[in-house]
Amino acid sequence: MTQDELKALVGQAALKYVVPGEVVGVGTGSTVNKFIDALATMKDRVPGAVSSSNASTERLRALGIRVFDANEVGELAVYIDGADEIDGRGYMVKGGGAALTREKIVAAQSRRFVCIADESKRVEVLGRFPLPVEVVPMATQRIVRQFQAMGGVAKVRLKDGQPLVTDNGQHILDVTGLQIREPLAFERDVKAWPGVVDVGVFAQQKAAVCLLGTSRGVETLDF
Ligand code: A5P
Repeated sequence: MTQDELKALVGQAALKYVVPGEVVGVGTGSTVNKFIDALATMKDRVPGAVSSSNASTERLRALGIRVFDANEVGELAVYIDGADEIDGRGYMVKGGGAALTREKIVAAQSRRFVCIADESKRVEVLGRFPLPVEVVPMATQRIVRQFQAMGGVAKVRLKDGQPLVTDNGQHILDVTGLQIREPLAFERDVKAWPGVVDVGVFAQQKAAVCLLGTSRGVETLDF
């Protein structure tokens, strides 16, 4: 099966975690796009979604799924999102699509994080994928030096030759050379640096379940 087919498989499989009658939290990315397409087939049974990015909002609306502001609704039963990496404990690296801050906000508002990913995302130790960190632009160079002191190399993410601007009007650093063996402590520490909006380590908001698309079918990992 191609990676695209594996993404479609887990996007479809995630429907069984959607609670009829309840607003669903929706992440961002190519795997979530498959989920959104699948969700459209049961849109009459859910009131709508809280979205983690302008891109997902646009896709949801185009398919006739209502999008609620996070402040309009209370706790969500479930949040469904992809990951750039997931380890054996359900800790993840996310933000390849630059939506990490809003993803973490919607995840924090949800009782259960269901991660959907193809098997290429499964790692033993987080850090293979460049770690996305959303930063306030004036703090960029100091944060680059802070990562350097930890052995990381941080680069500003560019789009069309200019720093990419997130949905929150900030920039993204992608950090290579890290091995994140203690995700909870790492997330807490980096998040406390002035100018860091959020860091793409999802440890507090880790996955409760991962639907992993493999050549043998969908594997369900419970954490
Ligand atoms: C978006 O900011 C990310 O956190 C995505 O969830 C992650 O990059 C996975 O994306 P794909 O499903 O496109 O691989």
